[in-house]
This record gives sequence, C-alpha cells and structure tokens, in this order.
Amino acid sequence: MSTINRQVLTLDEFTIQQLRMFPKATGELSMLLRDIGRAAKRINVEVNKAGLVDILGEAGNTNVQGENVKKLDVFSNNQMVGVLRHGISCAGIGSEEMDDVVVFDDPVSNDSKYVVLFDPLDGSSNIDVNVSIGTIFGVYRRVSPVGRPCTKEDFLQPGVKQVAAGYIIYGSSTMLVYATRRGVNGFTLDPSIGEFCLSHPNIKTPELGKIYSVNHGNFFEYDERIQNYITNCQKKDKTNGGPYTQRYIGSMVSDMHRNLILGGIFMYPSTKSMATGKLRLQYECNPFAFIIEMAGGKATDGVNRILDIQPEFLHQRSPFFAGSKGMMEELEQY
Ligand code: AHG
Ligand code: MN
Ligand code: MN
Ligand code: MN
Repeated sequence: MSTINRQVLTLDEFTIQQLRMFPKATGELSMLLRDIGRAAKRINVEVNKAGLVDILGEAGNTNVQGENVKKLDVFSNNQMVGVLRHGISCAGIGSEEMDDVVVFDDPVSNDSKYVVLFDPLDGSSNIDVNVSIGTIFGVYRRVSPVGRPCTKEDFLQPGVKQVAAGYIIYGSSTMLVYATRRGVNGFTLDPSIGEFCLSHPNIKTPELGKIYSVNHGNFFEYDERIQNYITNCQKKDKTNGGPYTQRYIGSMVSDMHRNLILGGIFMYPSTKSMATGKLRLQYECNPFAFIIEMAGGKATDGVNRILDIQPEFLHQRSPFFAGSKGMMEELEQY
C-alpha cells in the first residue's frame, strides 16, 4: 500500500516560502516560474497523448537552425511564448525555434525585469519514438532600462548573469527542475492534482560519477584529445574509479537529468563538420551550465567556463562538457 505524503510543497508554495525568507523580493520570478510550469503542464498533456492525436511528425518547414521542425516543436514554442506574453514577469523572449527575439512591448511587459531564453522542445528526434523529451529555459535580469521595451543586449548576456535556469523532463514521470543561486530543486508533476510537487529538494550532483554520455557515432569526427578521453573512460576498471557505463539518449534534457542525479559527464564536442558543436549556447548550454554549477558540478566548452562566454549573436553554438566535478577535472587533463 502506498503512503501519501501530505506535507509535500507544491511549486507555488515553495516559491512563496522562498519569498518569506527574502522579504525584499517582489515575487516576479515566482510568477514567471509559475507561468513556465503552466506551459509545461500543457505540453505534458500533448506529449502524453501524442500517439492518439495529430501531433507527431513534421510541421513541414525548417527552422533557423536548419532543422526539420516537428509539430510538437511548434506547439511547445507557442505555449512558452503564450504564457510568458500573457504573464506579467517577462519583457521578451528568445527561442531556438524563432529567427529573432520577441519583444512584448506592452505597458505591463515593459515594466517587467526579466527576459527568458528557451528551447521549447528538446530531443525532437525522440518525439516520434516515445523517448523522453524536455524543455529548457534560462532567465536573465534585463540590462536595458525598465519602463521601455527590452532590447537585443538583454538577450546577449553571458550565462553567469542568469538569475534562474531550469528544465522540464517529460519522462516516465514529468519533472520540473530549476536552479537559482540558492540551489537546485526538483518537482514532480502529480497528475491527480495537476501540480508540480517538491520531490527532489536541494539537488547536489555526486562529485564522482561513473556515467559518460557522448554520441559514439561521431567518434572519428572528434579531436584526438577527446578521443583519448573517451578511450580512457572505456578503459576504467575497479583500480581507478571504474568501470564506467556509457549512456546516451540523444535528448540533452534526459542525459543531463540522469547524470545530475546519478553523477556523470555529458559531452557534445565540436566535430569535423560542426566546428562549434551542435548545442545552442543560449537555449541549451547556459541553462544546464548554471544548473550543474549550482548543484556542485562544472561546465566548459573544453577550455572556457560556459557561463563566462560572451554571446555575440542569437543561436550561437558551443561545444559542451558538463558534469561531476571529479570527472570534469579528469577531462581537463586531456
Ligand atoms: P533539439 O531537439 O532541441 O534540436 O536538440 C537536440 C540536441 C540535444 O537534445 C541532444 O543532446 C543532441 O541534439 C543530440 O544530437 P546527436 O543526435 O547529434 O547526438
Ligand atoms: Mn531543434
Ligand atoms: Mn535542444
Ligand atoms: Mn529544441
């Protein structure tokens, strides 16, 4: 018989509890997280019945990334833009699926202090085969003056300027995980009440993990030093912290979520054909770099800390290495 934990805090209750500890906070960020949570619930409903309704497959166009857009990419993007436009905490957004930023430019939005950059649907290639997918977001305090429409500069801030970052994983259960400078907390969607409930308080990633996640199919496309590191992972045994396990789903959200909880390293290096790798700095790398650092891990592009990179343009790509501190330090020796 299952026991019911009636003490569990919902996402809203948790953010209100945080507000009580910091009476000067205005609650704008709490509202923004609540808005994103609402988009997540709507996307979740669609993901859950994907096989039954006409939401699988291609939308019939390509996006600014040069990828074939899926119907669920479009749906998720519309939900994210919608909740943030209709909320009162966001002045504008940037999305993997949109050529340019959207400046909301109405009296309420112009008074908002945040902008949000997001990947509305991560793991598009897994949609049609019922494998976990996600949504990723990073929240920045705008640098342009409040009271006016936000500007391009607000969206070109280094990841270190994020005030919060998070993701939703539509998996065997649906979770929302978000980080602020106060820590990382995970909430599981209780479908019976339609609320995200605090299930993983104060997440810390293990200092040493045993999982490495990389697309092995690209092995001969990687730089020799990366190849050597991967080979080193394969050679690990009991005498030197191993053996390691290779796990790669191909949805960054799922791969990063598993490694965050269990300990591990995730890599998307540059390849011979993609000099700056595949992952997008503003929508994918920065949010996860912020989350993993707040959980005690590290994230780099192979040389530089991801969060220190000054973006030059929207949709910029970056090689990405992130995970447990000990494993990242071993990678750095290569
Ligand atoms: P998206 O679906 O948002 O375009 O992102 C896909 C990304 C990411 O989720 C994943 O880590 C990576 O693509 C997998 O790429 P490969 O298939 O090249 O390994
Ligand atoms: Mn995509
Ligand atoms: Mn993605
Ligand atoms: Mn995407």
